[in-house]
This record gives sequence, C-alpha cells and structure tokens, in this order.
Amino acid sequence: SLDRKEIVERIAARKHELADNLLILCHHYQQQDLFQFADLTGDSLKLAKDAAAISDKEFLIFCGVHFMAESADILANVNQKVLLPHLHAGCPMADMATVGAVSQAYTELLSVGIMADEKDMVPVTYVNSSAAIKAFVGEREGSVCTSSNGEKVLKWALAKGEKVFFFPDEHLGRNSAAALGVPDEQVLLWRRGEILGGNSVADLRRAKILLWDGYCEVHMRFLPDHVRQWKLREPDIQIIAHPECPRDVVSIADQYGSTETIISAVRNSPSGSKWAIATEINLVERLKREHPDKDIHLLAPTSCQCTTMDCNQPVNLLWLLDNLAHGKVKNQITVEKKIAKSASLALEQMLAI
Ligand code: 13P
Ligand code: SF4
Repeated sequence: SLDRKEIVERIAARKHELADNLLILCHHYQQQDLFQFADLTGDSLKLAKDAAAISDKEFLIFCGVHFMAESADILANVNQKVLLPHLHAGCPMADMATVGAVSQAYTELLSVGIMADEKDMVPVTYVNSSAAIKAFVGEREGSVCTSSNGEKVLKWALAKGEKVFFFPDEHLGRNSAAALGVPDEQVLLWRRGEILGGNSVADLRRAKILLWDGYCEVHMRFLPDHVRQWKLREPDIQIIAHPECPRDVVSIADQYGSTETIISAVRNSPSGSKWAIATEINLVERLKREHPDKDIHLLAPTSCQCTTMDCNQPVNLLWLLDNLAHGKVKNQITVEKKIAKSASLALEQMLAI
C-alpha cells in the first residue's frame, strides 16, 4: 500500500498525463491533499456556473458532494462526464427532503385549501438537494438558490406567488427571510412526519413562507454562546457565519455569507484582523494557513467537519485517475434525462435571477 506522499505524487503525475481532457473542481470544504489539485475552486454557486461554462474537457472530476456533481452533470455539455471520487460523499441535509415527502406536503396543503392550485405556492430549493427535488421545483416554475443568493431568490419568489415553500434547509430559509424583513409570524416550520407539518390551518393561511425542517449537522454545532464568549474575550473580533447556522447565531454575528463570501471578507480585511468563523473546519484551517498575519479561529471549540465530504480521499482521486488512464470511467454521476430537463429549468431560473 502507498503512503500519503506517494499517493499525492502519483496524482500529480496522472493529472499531468490526462490534463488535455480533464478538469478538477473542488469545493472549499475538501481537505488540502485534494484541494491542492483543483483547477477550479468555489462555493456551490461558483462551481455550478463553472461547470456550465466549461466545454472543452471531457472529464470533470468533482471533489465535493453528490448533489454538486449532479448539478454539474445537469449544466455540463452532453458529451462531458462528471465523476465523484467516492460515491458515499453525499450531503445528509440534501437527503432530508425526498420527492415523496414533499409531494405529500403539497397534497395535504391542497386538501385543506391552503392553496387552490399548486401555482399559488412557489417552491424554492437550496442547491443542497437531489436532482429529483430540483426537477419537482422546475416543474412548478420555482427556483434553486444557494447560500450566496438565498435572499435574492426568496425575494423573487415572494413577488411571484402568494406563498413560498423553501426546502430542505430551515436555517438558510429563516436567515434569508429575516434579511428581507419578513415578520417571524409569517415564517412557519414544516415538520416532517407530522400532519400539515404540525401546523394549524389558520397558521398556514397566515404564513408567507413555509420552511422544510432540514438542517446541516455541521453548522448546527455553532451556538450563540460561542459568539458571546468570543466577544467577551476579544471585543474587536469579527464573527462571520455561514447561513446554514441557526438564526440565533447568524442574528448576533457581524456578517454572514457563503463560503466564497467568508473567504473574500477575510482576504480583504487588514493585516492583524481577528476572525471567528462559523463554517466547516477545512475551510477555516486553510484560511489560517493563507493568512498568517491575521488571527483566525473556528467559532466553536469542537471540530466541525463535514464527514461525508471527507469520504473523498486522495486515494479515491488516484483510483479515478488510474482508471481513466486505462480508458475506464468510474463513479460517473448521471442524472436521468427527464429529471435533468426539469431540474435545469430550476437551476437556470436561479442563474437568471
Ligand atoms: P457554499 O455554497 O457556501 O459553498 O455551501 C455549500 C455547503 O454545503 C455548505 O455547507
Ligand atoms: Fe451538507 Fe452540511 Fe456537508 Fe454542506 S457541510 S455538504 S450542508 S452536510
């Protein structure tokens, strides 16, 4: 078996050999041993746009999670193949909204007359969702959003319909609604497994936004007490949180935003700046290495790692590349044509907004 150093050297050699026909895209939460091989890096929105813009490479290796690779496959050119280093690299939050459960919610809402027609409800799905959910949204003229355009897309949806159904992430939905000034009583949680999501018909009538009760277990580890403790210890520290963090954290942070937003806030701050960051540990550690002149911390005292993202290990990337070098395509992520067609409507709606 190879040690880590040998694996990294072999990846570099294979990448060089296959460079004419291959591009490696990498999300900011990937570990450094993979990240160093990225041709393109970004948050979910940037990577989706990049995948749509690349046309001259047959193989796109997506170091990220399953839903990101699906979006890349939907947006990429038909001849391109999107490969995921490890098939277990998924997003538990994305799995919290299934088409079956979301369709059931729509049926219940129609049955009690909350909406007379499906068109009265504009669905918005966070990009952290399956292609099938994006297709469900596309078929109902809704939109995808990401952590960098949640507010914009929600504003568009509120202007379009009477109500908005937002899935799967409760917290991105709640933080975006708050930023738009939507009163709390008009934002209602839909609890999976409960009739009418655990709400009364009167409350549902009053609500403008229904939030699916999905969450990211990594970002749920950040607590308001962590913010308060940092502010007590270091009064001039700046707190920046990803919008998947709960509302009570985001509401007392100095700023919030997607991984790209976090990176540019830190990058553009003066030397000596102090930061406590509420997002995945690999990104925070990278920022520390890239900015030794700044005082950068993870907001929480415990490690917050996306363990499913971390299923992609250098050895899996090497295995993909070795196979490609022998003409074998492994771990290709393909979205069925009919689903891809509807899902692309929802993705393109977002890109248009
Ligand atoms: P970004 O779009 O901010 O990169 O977030 C993706 C994600 O999965 C965060 O947990
Ligand atoms: Fe999903 Fe959370 Fe991992 Fe992002 S950090 S991919 S939302 S589990």
